[in-house]
Amino acid sequence: MVTANSDYLKLPGSYLFSTIAKKTNDYVKAHPDAKLIRMGIGDVTQPLPPAVIKALHKAVDEMGHAETFRGYAPDLGYEFLRHAVAENDYRARGCDIGDDEVFISDGAKSDSGNIQEIFEKDNVIAVTDPVYPVYVDSNVMAGRTGTYDAQTTRWSNVVYMPCTEANGFSPDFPKRVPDVVYLCSPNNPTGAAMNKEQLQAWVDYANQNGVVIIFDSAYEAYISEDNIPHSIFECEGARTCAIEIKSFSKNAGFTGLRLGATIIPKELRDHNGTALYSLWARRHGTKYNGAPYIVQRAGEAVYSEEGKAEVKAMVARYMDNARFIKESLSGMGYEVYGGVNSPYIWLKAPNGATSWEFFDTLLEKANVVGTPGSGFGPSGEHFFRLTSFGTKENSRIAMERIAKL
Ligand SMILES: Cc1ncc(COP(=O)(O)O)c(C=O)c1O
Repeated sequence: MVTANSDYLKLPGSYLFSTIAKKTNDYVKAHPDAKLIRMGIGDVTQPLPPAVIKALHKAVDEMGHAETFRGYAPDLGYEFLRHAVAENDYRARGCDIGDDEVFISDGAKSDSGNIQEIFEKDNVIAVTDPVYPVYVDSNVMAGRTGTYDAQTTRWSNVVYMPCTEANGFSPDFPKRVPDVVYLCSPNNPTGAAMNKEQLQAWVDYANQNGVVIIFDSAYEAYISEDNIPHSIFECEGARTCAIEIKSFSKNAGFTGLRLGATIIPKELRDHNGTALYSLWARRHGTKYNGAPYIVQRAGEAVYSEEGKAEVKAMVARYMDNARFIKESLSGMGYEVYGGVNSPYIWLKAPNGATSWEFFDTLLEKANVVGTPGSGFGPSGEHFFRLTSFGTKENSRIAMERIAKL
């Protein structure tokens, strides 16, 4: 019998970033004068919007007075923030989501890692390949594995859906019907975004087959095209098959503050007819004591008129960068994807190089650090991820160096 503990040891996830760190550190040790430009990071670099800073100061002051001090936050989130999320991110887009269907948390990473707890142990999950590693790793850590194939380094209860140039990096329905499907659009790492028809087809598939979709919308603020849904609840029928996970990190720069939300409609049920809403409320109440009051007030400020304008300007700066990187690389003859509805640029390594070979070339010859696509799954082989979260100046220098390769 395979135990969850022994499955931990087979997880490739940590290998990717630890290998990048080791190769980069070794290079810097050998070349102390090298001025590396890091374009592998998935973290924002612009400071928090002024509206958020103002709200933080105000909330901190409130905590210092007996009349306005707050202790434990409600574990499902303060009403003011649940309302702001439901109103602005959902009802304003025509999605029928109630304030009480919004569960506030400390971020999309923990929610996307923890949400598997409300599903049956023997459920089969499906993920895209390449994939944000948290979806697979959290299920494996929970023992939702089946048998392990050392050759493919895969578990029988995890179905992989290749996302390739051939399908425009949008997954096809898997041959084996899973119980749970993880979709992320706009996608990390490919930068691809599903259009309304594609996402509607997934909602229909899920409703017809009794599948639950976990939809990660962490990058929705980067959508620039009209026919790309910002939420799965823009699709008809999503209330009976979908959970959505939101983040405040990539839109409003909360990577260090920590805030997120999960949306579970009351109609959504598991195979036994139990409301997943109730299971998540129970889980949240047992293992979580609420995001800090001051951070929730900061989140509320993201939805003020001032906050909305500032967030829009921040995203526009990253996207201006993304456009610049994409156009520069295309101009050099690289095959480039993403970067239109996403801060991620997904490029093909030239001359048939593997992802890691291209990593070494960029590191050693251009002093640019990116992320090898193969680290996100076998279908990422020969691809490479660059991000637009750095400064425009660094992106410009990086492109000049790459042009000289
Ligand atoms: C697809 C995806 N989901 C979730 C997260 C994590 O978001 P948060 O900072 O809210 O935990 C990331 C972070 O890189 C991500 O790429």
